[in-house]
Amino acid sequence: MDHNYTYQAVLADAERVNTWRVEDLIGDDKALDFARPFMPESLARTAGLSFLSEDEQRVLNQIRGHEYLYIFGLVEEFILPFVLDHARVRLHDDDYRVRALLRFAGEEAKHIQLFKRFREDFTDAFGTRCDVIGPPQEIAHAVLAHHPLAVAFAILHIEWMTQRHYVESIRDNRDLDPQFRSLLRHHWMEEAQHAKLDTLMVESLTQACSGDEIDRAVDEYVQIGGLLDGGLQQQMQFDLDALERATGRRLTPDEREECCAVQRQAIRWTFLGSGMTHRNFLDTLGTVRPGARAKVEEIAPAFC
Ligand SMILES: [Fe+2]
Ligand SMILES: [Fe+2]
Repeated sequence: MDHNYTYQAVLADAERVNTWRVEDLIGDDKALDFARPFMPESLARTAGLSFLSEDEQRVLNQIRGHEYLYIFGLVEEFILPFVLDHARVRLHDDDYRVRALLRFAGEEAKHIQLFKRFREDFTDAFGTRCDVIGPPQEIAHAVLAHHPLAVAFAILHIEWMTQRHYVESIRDNRDLDPQFRSLLRHHWMEEAQHAKLDTLMVESLTQACSGDEIDRAVDEYVQIGGLLDGGLQQQMQFDLDALERATGRRLTPDEREECCAVQRQAIRWTFLGSGMTHRNFLDTLGTVRPGARAKVEEIAPAFC
């Protein structure tokens, strides 16, 4: 991909933009408003479930918001150690690189805490148990067992995905709960720098790999997607269980089947398809290895 990203410029942007604290966004008088949706419809996809009342659709939307908090916290559990490891192998040759990567790691640690704090407030106010997959450390361990370049591809996918969610569906959406929207906006602000740093990480890792090794890494990136997809499908079932618990409504077998079909693709699009089809992600794949882009483009429709 053609770009002019440098560690020095990204660090300067991060120092200018990224000045918020977790306490600025949640706690005290900053409460979630459960009268409003938390997620944009393009990610939640609840409106098409016409057998659910408006209130039930909103509850499912909010459960999907809880899921979003949790899954982001979960993926950041593997991003944090990966970035630290990537910084550590070359601590002495570029001061800007070290500082930019350590700042990246510090921001992800802050995001993990931010998502946890929002989940705590959600859980206290929602009043119904929402089960989650995990534990995150175990999933992180399974992801990190793959080739470092494969993990870097997965992280690049996640960073661009965050940008896309905000720009396409959240920035101009005035219906969403203002607190939740503020969380997504502040996360987006810092992730913009991460996406650039990740592009630099991918490029530096590919320089040390043969063509065959890059091909293997692309295959392993697809495997990481499959691993996450398995977890997401379980999470989708947990979300529907929580909907039944929260609303007291028992879905008929036909309704449950329709919910599963719609929500399966909704959760896939949210965390997999919207990253796999991001233009910048595909451009980077195309640049580092001919054929890699086409391979991902071929499988992406299943996750859209
Ligand atoms: Fe993050
Ligand atoms: Fe990030």
